[in-house]
Amino acid sequence: MDRREFLGGAAAVTLSLKGFPDALAAIAGHKGSPQETKDNEHFWSQIQRAFTVDRSIVNLNSGGVSPSPAVVHDALKRHLDLSNSGPSYFMWRVLEPQRETARTRLARLFGADPEEIAITRNASEGLQICQFGFDLKPGDEVLCTDQDYGRMINTFKQRVRREGIVLKTFQVPVPCEDTAAIAAGYEKNLTPKTKMILVSHVINLTGTVLPVKEVAALGRARGIPVIVDGAHGFAHFPFTHKDLDCDYYATSLHKWLFAPVGNGMLYVRKSKIPGLWPLMAADEKQAADIRKFEEIGTHPAANALAISEAIAFHEGLGAERKAARLTFLRDRWATRLAKLDRVKLLTSLKPGLACGVATFAVDGLEAARLCDHLWDKRRIVVTPIDHPDVKGVRVSPSVWTQREEIDLFCDTVESAVRGGLK
Ligand SMILES: Cc1ncc(COP(=O)(O)O)c(C=O)c1O
Repeated sequence: MDRREFLGGAAAVTLSLKGFPDALAAIAGHKGSPQETKDNEHFWSQIQRAFTVDRSIVNLNSGGVSPSPAVVHDALKRHLDLSNSGPSYFMWRVLEPQRETARTRLARLFGADPEEIAITRNASEGLQICQFGFDLKPGDEVLCTDQDYGRMINTFKQRVRREGIVLKTFQVPVPCEDTAAIAAGYEKNLTPKTKMILVSHVINLTGTVLPVKEVAALGRARGIPVIVDGAHGFAHFPFTHKDLDCDYYATSLHKWLFAPVGNGMLYVRKSKIPGLWPLMAADEKQAADIRKFEEIGTHPAANALAISEAIAFHEGLGAERKAARLTFLRDRWATRLAKLDRVKLLTSLKPGLACGVATFAVDGLEAARLCDHLWDKRRIVVTPIDHPDVKGVRVSPSVWTQREEIDLFCDTVESAVRGGLK
């Protein structure tokens, strides 16, 4: 037995003693490459058992929000219990300082300096800090696509109503097979009045991955801030900050990192911190401190601390291994359903253009009705998308999804397409 196997065995004993499955032991003892592992159901069955998900439903909406592995949820509960035993001492003086560990770990995972990382409550908060954080005059333009997230578009629309700025959007093709055209779309729609750009790392409607680095470079060359909506990007597939080279990146941590619900991260390049107003006021002395974006008043300390356990789980599993599995599960359903006459994929399956999230439409069958049918018939949860450009069913399995659950979903869609909703 080598050291790795021994450690794997030891981890299994510790975890099973605590009532946990042996997921971490499986990871420690596993030697296959991500590609070799992606369809190894024995390996994934151990990862699946690291979560306490309810198997009476088939949850194919991990893109919306994800459960945490038991080890993360347990840490959250432990921190909450300690906090509640005397919040003014345990929450503020014992737990809150540990937030710095989560900041440091997030920074390492993203490839940034801890002094560039703010822990927020979700992507919306980080994005709105940026979207509201620059002074704009009536007539100044902000630019994004028509497929950016609804709340982020509403944020700009509120500035339109309140301050008289101008929101410009342009269309993204569906399916999007050529993301260079998106960077070109941004460039074409820039004017001398453009003062801010928003770009989604991953479009929530279809899972399409956009060319963030190119758009960030376009903005930088013209002195226009480019805010990256990374809600679906971070910990979904492998990348670090240098692959994007952006100044502002906001993400949720309760989607693909599996941190407790109510966690997000905002990256701001160090030199850009003084120029960005926080959403809630901070002391003038904090102008250059990333923590000015965390001045939100009294809040639970427990949530942010459990980010560290989520990162440990993510790193143990491995970003490449996770992405390979997510792609395998997506291809399993998407290539099978695409063979049906009336089914059209609204997401490109080309490498690099999407990962675990994809959307399909059935000609002549309304998406919302098909989603209701999947729930009524087999308790399968998917997401109906009703957007002017995208009308379809979004499917986002995760590492806890069983191959059999994907097959059950495909069987149910297949019989609905062939025989109707009965
Ligand atoms: C593209 C995109 N941006 C922003 C958000 C907002 O994320 P949150 O609700 O975690 O703030 C979402 C949520 O689904 C999203 O898909």
